[in-house]
Amino acid sequence: MNFEFTEEQLAVRDAARDFAQNELLTGVIERDEKQIFPAEQVKKMGELGFMGMMVDPKYNGGGMDSISYVLAMEEISKIDASCSVAMSVNNSLVCWGLEKYGTEEQKQKYLTRLASGEVIGAFCLSEPEAGSDATSQRTTAEDKGDYYLLNGTKNWITNGNSAEFYIVIAQTDPEKKHKGINALIVEKGMDGFVVGKKENKLGIRGSDTHSLMFTDVKVPKENRIGEDGFGFKFAMTTLNGGRIGIASQALGIASGAYELALNYSKERKAFGKEISQHQAIQFKLADMATSIEAARLLCLNAASLKDQGKDFVQAAAMAKLFASKTAMDVTVEAVQVHGGYGFVKEYHVERLMRDAKITQIYEGTSEIQKIVISRELLK
Ligand code: CAA
Repeated sequence: MNFEFTEEQLAVRDAARDFAQNELLTGVIERDEKQIFPAEQVKKMGELGFMGMMVDPKYNGGGMDSISYVLAMEEISKIDASCSVAMSVNNSLVCWGLEKYGTEEQKQKYLTRLASGEVIGAFCLSEPEAGSDATSQRTTAEDKGDYYLLNGTKNWITNGNSAEFYIVIAQTDPEKKHKGINALIVEKGMDGFVVGKKENKLGIRGSDTHSLMFTDVKVPKENRIGEDGFGFKFAMTTLNGGRIGIASQALGIASGAYELALNYSKERKAFGKEISQHQAIQFKLADMATSIEAARLLCLNAASLKDQGKDFVQAAAMAKLFASKTAMDVTVEAVQVHGGYGFVKEYHVERLMRDAKITQIYEGTSEIQKIVISRELLK
């Protein structure tokens, strides 16, 4: 792996950093507290090319590599993880799968609008009784000839209300188990599709997480992604790449909290000197910086393998496993370094600590990452 970034990659990182500092920081506390989806900010991210970063420019994408995606995700997540999850889902779970497996008509109709950020998408796999156990899909897509009749409920869907297009995973032929599952593109406004309750969450409170209900929704056959029965494989393959996005989000949450702790430790005085001059704080900063560097290298390694067209399944799962633990550990320590100030909202670290937890849960819990890694090891 080449550890030198290209000029283009550095320019993407700097653009993301400037955008996050100038456009996301203001209002982030209020958005978190009042659970306001950052619609305006996400629109702007689209204009800057962050919503379809790796998509071919002929479909309105940025034509960038996965390394640039990691760098941008880290910068945006340092400031607002609610924005970065909308970005990650749109890039990794919606645009990527559509570009790789969609038909030309699907790309023209859906991908071009998603990649430009004109609209955003959602990825609907989880159900009330199918979270980690994703093969146990209860949502059904009955084959009716020209269309599928979609019935069921999806839970914890990121961009649940703000999305325009939804990739919905559903069971067509239960006898074939995971080989009877399909991935369908559902449009908001299709008859029988209702956006349900918004979740009141611990973290990423600006992100709109909803349940979705489908009652006799007629989804045209041409909206199926891939061959009949490809839906589960589609979901798993898509999630492999998604894990690089969430690992980078976790990395950004950790590095954002670390930077705040470092700066604070140089300003705050106790026992006659800056607290950064106390070894108790220095040891914390050293541990935080070391874990963050390791997490960053794992994210970049997975992205680099993906960019080279090599197998990155294990690398992505390792990056997500380690970066999400780092996010949790580092944010807890960042609150500790801030003392009482860390426990109040104005100092941002308490929000980052709450945001960190979800990175150990979504796109596969830490336990799922260990399953993926160990299966690769034992292959
Ligand atoms: N990559 C590609 N294919 C994979 C795969 C992977 N990582 N993991 C499994 N598969 C394939 C297998 O090869 C198999 O296909 P074949 O039969 O053709 O060989 C098929 O999928 C079934 O595999 P298994 O028998 O291994 O399935 P399993 O039931 O034992 O479990 C699992 C697989 C890894 C546990 C899987 O269910 C899983 O990843 N669960 C977690 C789901 C998840 O991440 N949910 C997150 C929801 S999305 C989200 O969070 C978005 C958001 O809001 C931010």
